[in-house]
Amino acid sequence: MTRVGIVGGSGFVGGELARWLLGHPHAELTQITSERQVGQPLHRVHPHLRGRSSLRFIAQQDLQACDLLFLALPHGTAAKHISRYEGIAERVLDCSADFRIRDVDAYARWYGEAHSDPVRNTRCVYGLPELHREQLKGARFVSGVGCNATAVQLALLPLARAGLLPTQESVVAQVLAGTSEGGVGPSAASHHPLRSGSIRAFAPTGHRHAAEVEQAYPKIKLHLTVNAGDFVRGAFAQCHVVLDQDQNERDLLRVWQQAAAEEAFVHVIHERAGFYRHPDPKLVTGTNLAQLGFALDRDHRRVVAMCAIDNLGKGAAGSAVQAMNLMLGWEETLGLDFCGIHPL
Ligand SMILES: NC(=O)c1ccc[n+]([C@@H]2O[C@H](COP(=O)([O-])OP(=O)(O)OC[C@H]3O[C@@H](n4cnc5c(N)ncnc54)[C@H](OP(=O)(O)O)[C@@H]3O)[C@@H](O)[C@H]2O)c1
Repeated sequence: MTRVGIVGGSGFVGGELARWLLGHPHAELTQITSERQVGQPLHRVHPHLRGRSSLRFIAQQDLQACDLLFLALPHGTAAKHISRYEGIAERVLDCSADFRIRDVDAYARWYGEAHSDPVRNTRCVYGLPELHREQLKGARFVSGVGCNATAVQLALLPLARAGLLPTQESVVAQVLAGTSEGGVGPSAASHHPLRSGSIRAFAPTGHRHAAEVEQAYPKIKLHLTVNAGDFVRGAFAQCHVVLDQDQNERDLLRVWQQAAAEEAFVHVIHERAGFYRHPDPKLVTGTNLAQLGFALDRDHRRVVAMCAIDNLGKGAAGSAVQAMNLMLGWEETLGLDFCGIHPL
């Protein structure tokens, strides 16, 4: 078995990584850190994992050598100690935003400070398998993905692969995101009486995940807005794309179906009847799936490209485990076959 560890294991992404890894046929979760929960069993923090593991949280200073280390730490924390983590494990996958952006000028613009490790940054592979499959095979240093960035990148994937992303017009992307995007730490903005039933205009402009989408699709002009709902998991992207040329619905459906045919975790939802005619994040809760769909406003050559993911699944831990499978030369889908539950 391949020995895998998680740093920052008491957070939401850490818990989701543990859930996937404990069911993985080739990886063994051998250590998981939390500075505040040292000595506590895993299920004290992640109650759904009771009975799945006898592991207890350890402090980072007690980490042992292993084959692959997942970092699930807050932004800015991983980069400071990355050389130590690389000394512990041959392969490192950092789920934070520290190493997602290759262009350090863009990083400084979006994150408000110079990158602390620009040299190491150049050899990091962005961890979205649907975009970087070949580079991920055998890679030793990989970044995780931004959840909202993933929803937008995958929403646009069918058009991008078909060469239909516009070069003249801007793309307007709106994401509605769940509360678990904010992590496990409570804040005034996550307090239940204030948050329940509300929709917060979280980032009408200036959301940092725009940097990841622009990196993936450098020719488009992106306008990203992120709103926050009061559901726990899920990110739902709707991208308004004005095509350079007229397209009919049947041809566009083929474009979407082609993209899905190439990807194990992408489903196209484009139904004429029934309740589930378009992607719905509730249906992918707990999975590594992305539901993609579209609607066409032919009069204006406007396509609404949609994507629904679980922000902790395809938008974080699911993609990270999928990337791990590629890094280690395994079947990409290993350990990730949960299809979700319904009703929820
Ligand atoms: N939540 C999402 O939807 C999502 C999606 C994609 C990517 N990500 C990224 O994944 C990373 C983890 O996200 P998360 O939502 O799991 O965060 P989280 O719930 O806040 O968990 C982070 C964990 O890191 C540990 N930690 C270690 N050093 C810390 C420090 N200096 N300050 C605060 N905590 C520290 C904390 O546990 P101890 O203090 O007990 O050690 C904490 O449980 C972040 O970089 C985030 O941007 C998150």
